[in-house]
This record gives sequence, structure tokens and C-alpha cells, in this order.
Amino acid sequence: MSHLFEPFTLKGVTLRNRIVASPMCMYSSPGGIIGNWHYAHLAQLAAGGAGLVTVEMTAVSPEGRLTWGDSGLWNDEQMAALKPAVAAIKADGAVPGIQLGHAGRKGSANRPWEGDNQIADDAPNGWPIVAPSPLAFGGNNLWKTPLEMSVADIARVQADFVAAARRAREVGFEYLELHFGHGMLAQSFFSPYSNHREDEYGGSFDNRGRFLLETIAAVRELWPDEYPLAVRFGVIEYDGRDEETLAESIRLIKLFKEIGLDFLSVSMGFSTMNADIPWGPAFLAPVTERVRREADLPVAIAWGMGTPELADDVIRNGQADLVKVGRALLANPHWPYIAAAALGIARPSWATLPAPYAHWLERYHPETGVAPA
Ligand code: FNR
Repeated sequence: MSHLFEPFTLKGVTLRNRIVASPMCMYSSPGGIIGNWHYAHLAQLAAGGAGLVTVEMTAVSPEGRLTWGDSGLWNDEQMAALKPAVAAIKADGAVPGIQLGHAGRKGSANRPWEGDNQIADDAPNGWPIVAPSPLAFGGNNLWKTPLEMSVADIARVQADFVAAARRAREVGFEYLELHFGHGMLAQSFFSPYSNHREDEYGGSFDNRGRFLLETIAAVRELWPDEYPLAVRFGVIEYDGRDEETLAESIRLIKLFKEIGLDFLSVSMGFSTMNADIPWGPAFLAPVTERVRREADLPVAIAWGMGTPELADDVIRNGQADLVKVGRALLANPHWPYIAAAALGIARPSWATLPAPYAHWLERYHPETGVAPA
């Protein structure tokens, strides 16, 4: 029996299965406004059968974008543009979610296929970046030294998170994820690699966790109780200090939970270039299982989960509650249908696809291309 296709209820929201279309920046939103590209992209992910479709990391302010093409949610025009996306996702039976973030010291970059390199403040599409400490990420691409944030800057960014979350609620999203992973601003407050502050936002565990806890608490105040509030968090760096980082991360996640976090999306920190990540199928499974068990919170796993049997296994084995799928869904938005067939789900097309597809695919045999009479 498959576990990947069991429904999952979190707060007042029920997902039809355990497959999550992972947030993926499309870098295709000049002015932070999503458009036709996204409507097609998001609608096909929902029609493809995922239980939760998460709109890409959407910046809470212009300075919080990774690139000039990132989507944003700091004004009414961006908000209006997101409404049809929510409607399209819901129309195809998925729960509409959004990830909000601030890129911190990784911002002001070119789009990945245009070089991925940071752009000078005074060049077109560049802007000054901010972070806990004036430390560049490094390497050829992420060379810019950020401005050190004042306590007033910190309060302003937290207010930006709150304002964007309020807009997300008004747009109609039913799942909100804060991007606290991947070396984004929040991760860089927690990581000793990027936070060398000596004030109340740096140094000790409590101080490095303060920005993240305060931001969750502020967003929780306005985010409706019936809808899940989640964080994507980098719990490990694969830098040789893994036990220490993981233990600290789990300690912080327990505090997230105490102040009202509902769900954790387990990921990596990407705070240093000196990491040796053991890329491979489901490589984060042991780490994800440990976070789930020790923090006692429902979790999502990601990275290398695009194989149906593996995705099913991590749910069956209690290592994760949801499976985030990224590139396998870019390759084929109907991956859930393929997975359902591979896992022996009864009538897999009807279990995953809208009727105008399901009816025909039930009769379609790819090996012959011939429908039986
Ligand atoms: C990503 N990823 C990502 N993660 C995130 O938390 N917010 C984001 O906006 C993005 N953007 C993004 C864009 C693109 C084009 C890719 C390929 C990836 C990471 C993504 O959510 C996912 O965790 C990884 O892709 C790993 O899953 P797969 O691809 O191995 O299934």
C-alpha cells in the first residue's frame, strides 16, 4: 500500500497527498510582479496532482530579492497579480502556498542563466545588500560586502515580513512558509559564518536565534490559526561541524514550535562555500527523521526525492510527513501521476489528474499508444 498518496491534514488544511511542489524561483517577474509565465507554471503543477503547490521565494522588499527577476509582495500590484495564481492552484485541487523571504547577502545577483554573479550597486539591476555582518559570501559570484544592519534595519525587515504575510493572507494563500534556509537573511543571522555581531542579535545561541524567533512571533500574530505557518530552515551545513549545527538547529526549532510554528521544511544552510554535501537520492532522510523525532514537529524532506519508491519509503518509514519535489516536476509536472502508477495506486490517472486528462489516460497504454475498446 502506498503512503505517498495518503491525505495529510495540518491545522485546518487537508492536502490530497504528500507531494509538495517545492518553491522554485523562476526569476521571471520584472518589478516583482508575476505574470502569464507563472500562471501556466503554477496551474500545471496543480493540475499535475501535487497536494501543495508553493509559490517560489517571494521577496518581502526590493532589497530582499536574489535577482531583479524575483517575485515580490511589497505592493498592491504584486498582490493583485498573485490572486489568479491562487485561484488556478485551487481550481486544480491543490492547496495554494507561498514562501516569503529576504535574500540578505546573496541578493543583487544576475539571473542564474545570465551568470548568477552579483551586480555592483550603481550598475543596472544592482542594489546595496544588507546582512547581520559586513561579510561577503565569497567566491567569484557572491563577492559583494553587505551593509551591517542596524537594530532599526532589523525592525524594518521584520515589519516587511509582517506586511508581506498580511498581503499573502489577503491574496488567499492557505500555507505560508518563511525562507530561513539556504543562506538567506534569516539563516545568516543564525549561522556563525555570517553573523559576527556583538549586540543582542549576535554571539550566543539566544542572540543568533533572536531575529528568527521574533519574525515568526510577529507573523504568527496575523497569520490565521487555521492555516499552517511553516519555516524552511537549513539545519546542517556538511562542513565538518554537523553534530553541533544539527543539535543547535533542533534546539531552535523547539523554540519555533513553542511560539506557534506548525511545520518545518528541512533543508541545508548553504552558509559557507566550504561544504561537502553528500548529494544523492534521499540523502537528507536521516537528518530529516531526527529533526522530526527530536523536535516533535511534522516535517518535509527535500533534495533528490524525485523517485516514487524513495518518496513513498520516507513517508512509510516515518522519516517525513511531506515530500518536496523540485526538478522532477520541472521535467514533468505530471510526476505525481507517474508516481501513482509506479506505486500501484488504483486508477492512477483519476487519483492525480483532472477529469479531462484522467478519463483518456485510463484507457491509454503508452507501450502501444492504443486505447482498448
Ligand atoms: C530552487 N530551490 C528553492 N528553494 C527554496 O526554498 N526557495 C526557492 O525559491 C527556490 N528556488 C529554486 C529554483 C530552482 C529553479 C530550483 C531548481 C531550486 C530549491 C528547491 O526548492 C528544492 O529544494 C531543490 O530543487 C531540491 O529538490 P529536487 O530538485 O532535488 O527535487
